[in-house]
Amino acid sequence: MIPIAKPYLGKEEAQAAHDTILTGWITQGPKVAEFEKNFAEFVGSKYAVAVSNCTTALHLSMIVAGIGLGDEVICPSMSYIATANSIVYVGATPVFAEINKKDYNLNIEDVEKRITSKTKAILLVHQMGMPGDIDGFKQLCEKHNLVLIEDAACAIGSEYRGAKIGSHSDYVCFSFHPRKVISTGDGGMISTSNEKVYNKLKLYRQHGMSINDRVRHESKTILFEDHLVVGYNYRLTDIQAAVGIEQLKRLPWIIVERQKLAKMYHELLSGIDWLELPNEQEGCFSNYQTYSVYLKPNAPINRDQLMQLFLENGISTRRGIMTSHRETAYKNKGTWSLPVSEDAADNSICLPLWVGMTEEDVMGIVAVIGDLA
Ligand SMILES: Cc1ncc(COP(=O)(O)O)c(C=O)c1O
Repeated sequence: MIPIAKPYLGKEEAQAAHDTILTGWITQGPKVAEFEKNFAEFVGSKYAVAVSNCTTALHLSMIVAGIGLGDEVICPSMSYIATANSIVYVGATPVFAEINKKDYNLNIEDVEKRITSKTKAILLVHQMGMPGDIDGFKQLCEKHNLVLIEDAACAIGSEYRGAKIGSHSDYVCFSFHPRKVISTGDGGMISTSNEKVYNKLKLYRQHGMSINDRVRHESKTILFEDHLVVGYNYRLTDIQAAVGIEQLKRLPWIIVERQKLAKMYHELLSGIDWLELPNEQEGCFSNYQTYSVYLKPNAPINRDQLMQLFLENGISTRRGIMTSHRETAYKNKGTWSLPVSEDAADNSICLPLWVGMTEEDVMGIVAVIGDLA
């Protein structure tokens, strides 16, 4: 069976976790601080704040950005449901906007039409690692006095106009779930270059505590903490951070390998006239966290039948990215007209792409499609 995804973890990660366990410091501590520093350096931001996953990264960003009851946040429906959920957590309303067919990212004209006096933020998802139009959305946010939050769950190592995702705005949220390009089991990070935002994110991720454990531990005088706000426990552990430090070292190579696999798919599938393939828009560089193909109306088979056929051939695939507005949790929360999102979600399929896949694996996957052509 060829799985849809597989994290690339080796002896170095196992050793790092082992060594950290033996230090006795296993929750947020020195390894988390080191991971944050290395992460910020990698993406080109001043700071990074490690958290338990990307959903909590998004939730904290909403809180620190001051979004709350009665506010509206514009986001794509076509995203993993955590995107919309993070808005609901703070009592605000997700306003679903349409995507572009060419890159499955938010469509800026449609977003602008949906701005109201209640809109406080735009949540821009870099879908499947493909960068969205950050400069366009920054300008739109400035024009309407809105906060830009980037959901970069899938986009570690992707680039927009020559700079890494994570370096462009105040709230950029990443995921280290095993389906992502690097993994710490579960885990997340927020990058920012805004000192005030950085300090608030740190405060809220650890119960609102005025002093962190490490400072207290290293102090030569007794210290008593205060809890300044109602915060959360959204900590990453030092065991996870130790794994993350090793994963970050591998990341440049992982991205080269993923690009090679994507290129192989492009070359082998580009002759099939009933498929649309992902492609990097001008100024964008993708880590190809997911390789999703779209079945055009002239396809000889429908999406679900093709997924079944893959399964019978020992190949695991997934439906294209879901639309949140059609999930049971959101069905009664408004009526939405999002034909492009629905069409993309219903007719696309994610193919396996992970480091360690061989040329034969890719050829075998392509052969299933080629046999239909
Ligand atoms: C776009 C997007 N946002 C948020 C998340 C949530 O990430 P996590 O599982 O780390 O909470 C995901 C995970 O799949 C995602 O794809």
